[in-house]
Amino acid sequence: MEEFNTERLGRLTGMLKRRGVILPAFEIHGGAAGLYDFGPVGGRLRNRVNQTWIDHWQSLGNIVEISCPTITPYSVLEASGHVGEFSDYLTECSECGEASRADHLVEDIHPNADTLSKDELSKLIEEHNPQCPACGASDWGEIEAQNLMFNTKIGAGLSGRQGFLRPETAQGMFTSFTSIYRHFRERLPFGAIQTGKGYRNEISPRQGMIRLREFNMAELEYFIDPEIAPIHDFSLWKNPVTLIADDGGEVVMTLEKAVDNGVIRHPTVGYFMGWTMDFLLSVGINPSFLRFRQHESTEMAHYAQDCWDAEILGSYGWIECVGIAHRGCYDLTAHEEATGQRLRAWRTFDEPKVVEIDGWTTDGAKAGPAFRSLAGKVNQFVEGLPSDSSFPLSQNIEGTDLQILPEHVKRVQRTENVNGEWFVPHVVEPAFGIDRIIWHLLDHSYTETEKSGEDYAYLSLPEVIAPVDVTVLPLFEKDGMDLLAQKIHRDLCSRKNIFSVYDASGSIGKRYARADEIGVPWCITVDHESLSDNTVTLRNRDSGEQTRVSIDDLPF
Ligand code: ATP
Ligand code: GLY
Repeated sequence: MEEFNTERLGRLTGMLKRRGVILPAFEIHGGAAGLYDFGPVGGRLRNRVNQTWIDHWQSLGNIVEISCPTITPYSVLEASGHVGEFSDYLTECSECGEASRADHLVEDIHPNADTLSKDELSKLIEEHNPQCPACGASDWGEIEAQNLMFNTKIGAGLSGRQGFLRPETAQGMFTSFTSIYRHFRERLPFGAIQTGKGYRNEISPRQGMIRLREFNMAELEYFIDPEIAPIHDFSLWKNPVTLIADDGGEVVMTLEKAVDNGVIRHPTVGYFMGWTMDFLLSVGINPSFLRFRQHESTEMAHYAQDCWDAEILGSYGWIECVGIAHRGCYDLTAHEEATGQRLRAWRTFDEPKVVEIDGWTTDGAKAGPAFRSLAGKVNQFVEGLPSDSSFPLSQNIEGTDLQILPEHVKRVQRTENVNGEWFVPHVVEPAFGIDRIIWHLLDHSYTETEKSGEDYAYLSLPEVIAPVDVTVLPLFEKDGMDLLAQKIHRDLCSRKNIFSVYDASGSIGKRYARADEIGVPWCITVDHESLSDNTVTLRNRDSGEQTRVSIDDLPF
């Protein structure tokens, strides 16, 4: 693997564009900053990375995949804190008007500029006069907080409601908690995963695929009981990993030791760091260019109690590609408070407890006729409510939306033998940026070498994510070699999970080179001999080794 540098970066992006892997979107209209296409090769690469991610997390055994809308009502993101908190500091160049992120202007001066307050950033900019990346001037306007969400309107005219394009997939998993809880027969722990688009109106997207305005996210929300100590098998990860703790110190130790020593504060966060590392290595990230960095308290998102980023080194330096956050009970509590709906799980005590209850119960005479067959469940729900609850209160019970009115309930003081309680589950969330991961696996697998005295570049992608599994090449398009090659190609395409490309244009050397450039692990060449003995040449991308095999024994 060569050194990362600007010249290499230029050659890599040129090749990715030429070969239809990733390319700026809407280029014939002049393009749009922060928007990229996955082209005819990249589309499948993205799909395979996504599917590998889904399979990887589902192999934990208690994970379910859901899919929620990207258009999100205002109230959801107001409750989650994004309306109030999801912003970056912006400043404009007084010369050319270009907007820049204030922390990015001083990131070379202060190592953790994104943790600084507005006043601290203003002071640093005033002292150091950073240059505008667009025009080179050094005259900056007032710093302002800019919310990063894209506004939209749901519905037309006066009845339209304000909404946003989602900035993370996570909120849909919190608002669907009741349905996921029922799916898992009301037993924690369990998780929901979701892959899909996230949108952020980034202030100054400059680094290719790293800072996009529409990007592919893949997130797991894992719901746990905070009172049960999790048991995880850390023996899966024997090798030490590089950890940068929030005091800035770098340590190299096993995940197990880091959890035991309290460097990683929660075992499930540590376990998911291991699971994250396995995924990243399986799709081709070079382990020497991977480290985990803990957020400082001033850097942490508004919802997080602890957070570790998986950072990957590539042509743009160290970049956060995954955030593994302990979100505590922040989100479920926030949605409970905003909606009055209970988003809780039931915890059964080892021994029943005697407790004084100053709470609520249903008034049978009114609640019975109102809720009929659900009256018992409503009673159970009302008796579990905290004493400061207020009515009317809407609640979904057993799939039915109910309105519990003041007349349906009465206050009650009692001593009870209870065998359990409702509580708000905690959440550990690994949040992956698929585009940043794809960028880095391309960056790491891009290899420049020489062949027959000429520069030769290829992508050594792992088979599991290679966008094309095999290229079928007739040596010449004559004498039936093309027909046999097309037949093999169609046969392969009809196999589950195999994608073949038929390539008959140019010399055989050029065709091998084209296949190597998009990381195709295998090439099959049909020649004269194939017509008589039903064999083909099978060429391996990485070793260049060519073997003669029978068409019936192809390893796909
Ligand atoms: P950054 O500090 O780089 O802006 P972030 O801390 O805002 O990132 P998170 O909110 O933790 O990122 O988002 C989870 C993941 O989503 C990130 O680890 C990253 O891989 C990805 N991501 C976030 N913003 C972008 C973006 N603008 N373009 C592409 N991927 C992104
Ligand atoms: N869901 C985590 C994030 O978007 O940061």
